[in-house]
Amino acid sequence: MSGLGDPRVLPDTKTIMRQRTKTILLLATAVLGATYAQPPAKDAPQYTKDGELLLPRDYRNWSFLSSSVSMSYPEEGPGGHAMFGNLFVQPTAREQFEKTGTWPDKTVLLMELRGVGGNDPFLNKDAQFQTDLHGYEVHVKDSARGDWAFYGIRSGATSGKAFEKTAKCFSCHETHGAADTTFVQYYPTLIGAAKQYGTYKDPSRKASGAR
Ligand code: HEC
Repeated sequence: MSGLGDPRVLPDTKTIMRQRTKTILLLATAVLGATYAQPPAKDAPQYTKDGELLLPRDYRNWSFLSSSVSMSYPEEGPGGHAMFGNLFVQPTAREQFEKTGTWPDKTVLLMELRGVGGNDPFLNKDAQFQTDLHGYEVHVKDSARGDWAFYGIRSGATSGKAFEKTAKCFSCHETHGAADTTFVQYYPTLIGAAKQYGTYKDPSRKASGAR
């Protein structure tokens, strides 16, 4: 005898509803679980219609990774003169790096470039301090746009163009960056995590020459 139409073998509406609710809950948990590791939408990279990266408005509230001076690379930097670089990343991306030794999708590493002041009679002769804003260099991991990309944003601009895939940014970062194409060897608070999770490349492969 066929069970079709037989109320004894077909699940009742209540059971179907219960199963549906369970499926929806499971799906919601999976979606939340998958997105949890990424920076929240408000911190995710955003673009103009032409594909320029919008300057993240809130980056000064992000996690601070390092500050360096005179690491600029004459051929690449906006001015070619000594600058301070202050590096910020979304707090969620930093937490995720600390847990895995690698960057999650939608990571934005933003380098704020500032001028170098000195020769202030009030200070020690060698003292150097930060001055006006010169622009930004940004390294973005976005799977929707082919993973890692580099952008330059001028001081005062609200967005900036991507560098071509053939730009030196890519080759130098891929060859010399200690973890996931980023220069973690110069970000002291992250070195431990990269070593712990085995994502730290041989430190002898440091960037050749200054940048
Ligand atoms: C010759 C090597 C070299 C080249 C070429 C280079 N970089 Fe870097 N980059 C570095 C080094 C070294 C650091 C370490 C931090 C610093 O400079 O303070 C760095 C750090 C960065 C960071 C901070 C996040 C990270 O990935 O570690 C950004 C953003 C960045 N560079 C952008 C660029 C852009 C944009 C270009 C191309 C226009 C570029 N870089 C070209 C060597 C290079």
